[in-house]
Amino acid sequence: MDLEPAIRDEWYVVGATAACREAPVRTRLLGTDIVVSGGDPVSARTASGRDLPVRLRYGCVWVSLGAPEAEPPAIPEADEDDRRHVLCGAVGLRASGLRIVENFLDMAHFPFVHTDILGAEPHTEVLHYTTEIRRDVDEVWATNCRFFQPQAALSAKGGIETQYQYRVATPHVTMLYKTCPNAANRWDVICLFVQPLDPDRCRAHPVMFLIDDASRLTDLVAFQQVIFLQDRIILENQRPVLLPLEPRAEIPTRADSSSVAYRRWLKEKGVRYGTTIGESSAAA
Ligand SMILES: [Fe+2]
Repeated sequence: MDLEPAIRDEWYVVGATAACREAPVRTRLLGTDIVVSGGDPVSARTASGRDLPVRLRYGCVWVSLGAPEAEPPAIPEADEDDRRHVLCGAVGLRASGLRIVENFLDMAHFPFVHTDILGAEPHTEVLHYTTEIRRDVDEVWATNCRFFQPQAALSAKGGIETQYQYRVATPHVTMLYKTCPNAANRWDVICLFVQPLDPDRCRAHPVMFLIDDASRLTDLVAFQQVIFLQDRIILENQRPVLLPLEPRAEIPTRADSSSVAYRRWLKEKGVRYGTTIGESSAAA
């Protein structure tokens, strides 16, 4: 299957740098089997022997099947000295990678899916927030988001109204900036790097850059894994499995404005992989 440039020429995380240095890693990206070499420097090629571009960023190996015009997305917070870098491992999901990103942007599910952690009844209303496609950087942003959270982070002591900003840097790379319980004027950064294996199957690599020098690493990872496994149940039961991009495919509400912007942006880019538009060409 031919991949459209908006998907082919992007960077994707395929594993943790430390693991790839230790031993060769066989994995898959966009329907192509690939091998990431062990050793230093890390290299990658397709199973049929074609060398692929590689970058090492944020503790992860980034690979592209095409010729990216830019570097992997910049995350300036990652360079701050007092941040904890928390790689949370990889989670396999039977869902379109685009569905994972869309779910990541959604606040309405917090009280129902992450009950008593990221939300709780009766605080179910998604308050008005701002969504925009930033043309200068070609990214989707949702700002001014607020939600009451009983346990916003491992370091939170009791419920707080959490402020959020969401950023979608590439179709499969997203991150959120949320109130940091330990530092009033700074944000915790939680990234979700999605590795599409096939249109309906992916691996998600959550990576966090936190201001928290008290919590144990295993506890930070466990907290994030609990959240993510709750999402997985929802994501694997969504129908259709692929992301609908047809007009009015699913009726949006005001709370969905980030999802509406994300889908519009994907459409403008000509993204088909992992969508219902790509379904017929994938089967052909
Ligand atoms: Fe969630």
